[in-house]
Amino acid sequence: MQSIAAPIVSAELRRRFVSSTRVFVLTGAGVSAESGVPTFRGGGDSAVWKGLPFEVLSSIEMLQRDLPAVWEWFDYRRNLLGILEPNPAHYELGRWQHRFPEFTLVTQNIDGLHQQAGSQRVIELHGNIWRARCISCHWCHEISVDTDRPEACLQCGDRLRPDVVLFGELLPQGALERAAEKASQSQLCFVVGTSALVYPAAGLPEIAKAAGAFVCEVNPERTPLSDLCDEVLTGKAGEVLPLIGM
Ligand code: OAD
Repeated sequence: MQSIAAPIVSAELRRRFVSSTRVFVLTGAGVSAESGVPTFRGGGDSAVWKGLPFEVLSSIEMLQRDLPAVWEWFDYRRNLLGILEPNPAHYELGRWQHRFPEFTLVTQNIDGLHQQAGSQRVIELHGNIWRARCISCHWCHEISVDTDRPEACLQCGDRLRPDVVLFGELLPQGALERAAEKASQSQLCFVVGTSALVYPAAGLPEIAKAAGAFVCEVNPERTPLSDLCDEVLTGKAGEVLPLIGM
């Protein structure tokens, strides 16, 4: 990809960044791209694995048909992620949570890199690859980089599955509702590194906009949400986000 000159942050956005108290951020795979995580629609390693597209591997049908294959796929992805580090975009968003009285970070990513960079109370719309969940009692088990994941639920002994949202599944209970409420109360909304093709996540900036928030997109490419945005900063999240608060 050709390198893009750093975008100019408007005086209007800077003014709003200083004066806003309720800030909402939605992130997608692009925020982790500079850490080395392949995006879904960028044709990277996570698009197709062993001949199967990710929509098939990461589906509820696959889970019902072949749970070990689903684990094999998520174990593979977790192993790739285990050696990766947060990038300047994750760290910048980690700083923003201390900057605004009400700051909400909503992510579609399952990689845990926001938390690794210090972000707290992240609303995870699609779950987290570093957790396993019991298919019966729903008990969640953290998976660490260093230890093997448990084979069965330590509470009830039933099978575990990745605690991620698969195609054909609903979002975790309450996560979307909390995110939508925060979006509807926000004054300033950032949409960072998402193709904005997957709903309901892509609807959150629309909720913010309808409620009167100033909406800013950060992405090297245009998306279906670009026209709705008040400002589009064309560039990589790790380069652009640190410019906004300068
Ligand atoms: P996509 O792969 O659809 O889109 C990634 C976006 O990031 C694209 O718009 C890229 O232009 C942009 N991008 C690439 N590099 C970037 C960078 N350095 N800085 C900023 N942006 C960059 O990923 P998502 O929109 O996150 O769901 O996909 C949404 C959901 O689709 C995923 O959570 C996943 C998938 O199906 C589930 O698995 C349930």
